[in-house]
Amino acid sequence: MLFPDYRPRRLRQNETFRRMIRETSLSVNDLILPLFVIDGSGVKNPIPSMPGQYQLSIDNLVKTAKQACELGIPAIMLFGIPKSKDALGTSAYAKNGIVQRAVSALKNKIPELVVITDVCLCQYTDHGHCGILDGNIIDNDSTLDLLARTALSHAKAGADMVAPSDMMDGRVAEIRGILDENSFSNIPIMSYSAKYCSAYYGPFREAADSAPKFGDRKTYQMDPANALEAIREVTMDIEEGADIIMIKPALPYLDIICRIRDEIDLPLAAYNVSGEYAMIKAADKMGWIDGKKVMMETLTSIKRAGAEMILTYFAIEAAKELNGH
Ligand code: PBG
Ligand code: ZN
Repeated sequence: MLFPDYRPRRLRQNETFRRMIRETSLSVNDLILPLFVIDGSGVKNPIPSMPGQYQLSIDNLVKTAKQACELGIPAIMLFGIPKSKDALGTSAYAKNGIVQRAVSALKNKIPELVVITDVCLCQYTDHGHCGILDGNIIDNDSTLDLLARTALSHAKAGADMVAPSDMMDGRVAEIRGILDENSFSNIPIMSYSAKYCSAYYGPFREAADSAPKFGDRKTYQMDPANALEAIREVTMDIEEGADIIMIKPALPYLDIICRIRDEIDLPLAAYNVSGEYAMIKAADKMGWIDGKKVMMETLTSIKRAGAEMILTYFAIEAAKELNGH
């Protein structure tokens, strides 16, 4: 395969040729839209660092979810912003909590839309950590029961899938156990398996009011320098019963997506996080890049790296683009 016998440009000379040999095609089926739900009605608070994204009350949440569904987006990922926080994050597993009410409204109004719930405590604890505290230590084992109760309360409200994002050890097994004991053995777990301790989460923490009040998340989220550890994390989660594996963030961790795709045969999701979204929106606003083109290139690259599912705040915009309007 050497020039001049082989000329790669032969198959690039027109769009039809390019379309015929294209290896990766993004589809609306690949997209999952994260949404933020807050108390009240008629609320649509813009999130300054995430242009086009809002904190939505349940009525507006249903409207946005319906729009996503009509565009062909199969699923949303739901994050709650509770009215009150405490040391044990009790509003995370309250029967009448914000996520629990939102899920039942969504399943009632748009039954065909898959509702995935984020399972974590950081929006619900007054200290902002993903687990509960023993002094200044985030205590792994006493957090597990609360995460499991949260997941169960989401399933009871009608969630189609639960997605633990806390990074405590052993939480997938704990959640699988409680779901099975309560006849929710059909509810899949999408595990944030390799979730890195990333500065790209900044805008999300503003959106969800979930920044830790002291310290950081380095004792539970992964060190960005590690790749082999991601394989161990993913392997553990599979043994504990995860149905879908997630890598997060996406763009700075395409190598991890690629390696996990090679080694693991479970469905793989990647989370194109808030900071990745914010950077594209900001540069587009400055007129420095073509935001739409960079969005499509970014999502395609995440799919090419090996993710079947992409959680992205761009889901609606990308779906419109893919549907040709
Ligand atoms: C918290 C959580 C975070 C995100 C999803 N769940 C942030 C964090 O760990 O502080 C980030 C999502 C994003 O940045 O878009 N469990
Ligand atoms: Zn958390």
